[in-house]
Amino acid sequence: MARLLHVCASPRGAQSHSLHCARALLTQWQTSVGDLHIVERDVSALAHPDAHFVAASLRAPALRNTTDHAALALSEQLLEELDSADVLLISTPMYNFSLPSGLKAWVDYIVRPQRSFVSTPQGKHGLLKDRPVRLLMAAGGPLESGLQQDFLSPYLCYVLHTIGLTQMEVLQLPNMQREPEKIAASLDQAADWIARQGASLRQILAQAEV
Ligand SMILES: Cc1cc2nc3c(=O)[nH]c(=O)nc-3n(C[C@H](O)[C@H](O)[C@H](O)COP(=O)(O)O)c2cc1C
Repeated sequence: MARLLHVCASPRGAQSHSLHCARALLTQWQTSVGDLHIVERDVSALAHPDAHFVAASLRAPALRNTTDHAALALSEQLLEELDSADVLLISTPMYNFSLPSGLKAWVDYIVRPQRSFVSTPQGKHGLLKDRPVRLLMAAGGPLESGLQQDFLSPYLCYVLHTIGLTQMEVLQLPNMQREPEKIAASLDQAADWIARQGASLRQILAQAEV
């Protein structure tokens, strides 16, 4: 059975546009591929990495003690969730042109030297298995270039690439805090995109022989 990890970053629960669209996409995927094992990880209130985590993460694995292993436990759990997923879905709001801090904390837990990437003279090299990533991002305002800079999707694309995940596709939900007609137009576009994703997931899973 195909496995999917849904990382959701909005703290707004049922009010969240990004979560609403992610749930619609999951329903679409389940309809088109049948059995799908979904793990949902809410990162909106994830604790930020602390000094123990930083020290343990930077220490050579062979030198780690019991305290280090305890400090890395959450990071290991998040990495195992990611490692065992065939597809990664991230749903998130845009906060101040970028990602909310809970999602940034998740990134800081999963992007770890010697665990998910290694540094080489040619730059960082990802250690995780490549797999498709879908990003659903909601913004209050417009996202056309010149009106507002999107640092969220290019950043996530770059940082996931660093650990080996190179296949990201993005659905933007702009204007979520604008007039009702603009919200409706955005949600209509999202519905079209979601409708096309069923066939796309079937193809992805067939190629990956899942
Ligand atoms: C702290 C904060 C910062 C925000 N920054 C931006 C921003 O830079 N650009 C933007 O278009 N909307 C911004 N918004 C609006 C949210 O992106 C918008 O409400 C979105 O729908 C939230 O996603 P959600 O509905 O999934 O929770 C911000 C909202 C908050 C609370």
